Amino acid sequence: MLIFGIETSCDETAAAIVKNGREVISNVVASQIKTHSQFGGVVPEVAAREHLDAINVVIEETFAQAGIQPNEVDAFASTAGPGLVGCLLVGLNAAKTLSLVYDKPYLPVNHLNAHVCANFIDSDLKPPFTCLLVSGGHTQIINVSDYNEQEICASTIDDATGEVYDKVARLLGLSYPGGIQLDKLAQSGNQTAFKLPEAKVGDDEFSFSGLKTAVLRLIQTFKGAEIPINDICASFQETITSTLIKKTVKMARRNSSNTIVLAGGVAANSRLREKLYELENDGFKVYAPKMKYCTDNASMVASCAYFNPIKTDNPLEFEVFSRG
Ligand code: KG4
Ligand code: ZN
Repeated sequence: MLIFGIETSCDETAAAIVKNGREVISNVVASQIKTHSQFGGVVPEVAAREHLDAINVVIEETFAQAGIQPNEVDAFASTAGPGLVGCLLVGLNAAKTLSLVYDKPYLPVNHLNAHVCANFIDSDLKPPFTCLLVSGGHTQIINVSDYNEQEICASTIDDATGEVYDKVARLLGLSYPGGIQLDKLAQSGNQTAFKLPEAKVGDDEFSFSGLKTAVLRLIQTFKGAEIPINDICASFQETITSTLIKKTVKMARRNSSNTIVLAGGVAANSRLREKLYELENDGFKVYAPKMKYCTDNASMVASCAYFNPIKTDNPLEFEVFSRG
């Protein structure tokens, strides 16, 4: 089964064709990073307009790279939410239009489920597993008992992991998008240079606002002297990844699950991946998406449309939603 997927929930205009949820035939991503970096973050109206400008080219390129005609795909899918409404509308209407023109089903997809499904691409992963989902808008531990059965067992009570990365990066004067830059600088810093706090919250909660404030206070102590940016990045990265992994392991043990999976943009983080792979020494089977399928892309959307589309009797009537 060939599914054509579209992703436009934030600042990437992306399309892909995926076979049976696991094999990527073509994958195209047009990033808006250059546009938004001048504003230091994503401007929703600007993002929606850029999606509109890019969508047709991205769709055509996806078919061209695959050497497949639109009438050869079995279904069209798009992210319906959560995300920026104006942005989501562009992808959803493009996918619905293709589905009407070529008389094939339209499958709406939840963006968070799509991030989880990025792990099925080029892999043999099968449920059940415990998934740590860490993106710009979400931080959750999910107990995935089957392809379309899952339960959130922990989530953040304030900032999402990617959001904290981006905010701390901004405090340090790094350019947007900060998460990936912070990760790079952390790799040449001393992770034990500064002791930063881990929030004392329940096993089913994450809280990062205290950590963010602690970094701000730490920066302020330098009072104009040169700030040891790499050491601060490394210490921050060590603290946050250690919290994330510790809680995920605890939840996996509680769920009697021996498979741990990463998902979301922050799954691209070098230290988080290192710590994940270290869990193999404790007897866990571990999975993380390939780097290009961690941050927003449409292959994960097409995969999710195959394994776990949004259940609805009337897909063509299904509308975008901002929160989920
Ligand atoms: O999943 P994603 O592409 O978009 C959302 O659905 O939110 O995640 C984007 C987030 C951003 O906050 C970005 O800074 C973060 O993922 N990110 C990283 C890294 N690469 C992307 N954070 C830390 N280390 C990275 N290497
Ligand atoms: Zn995302």
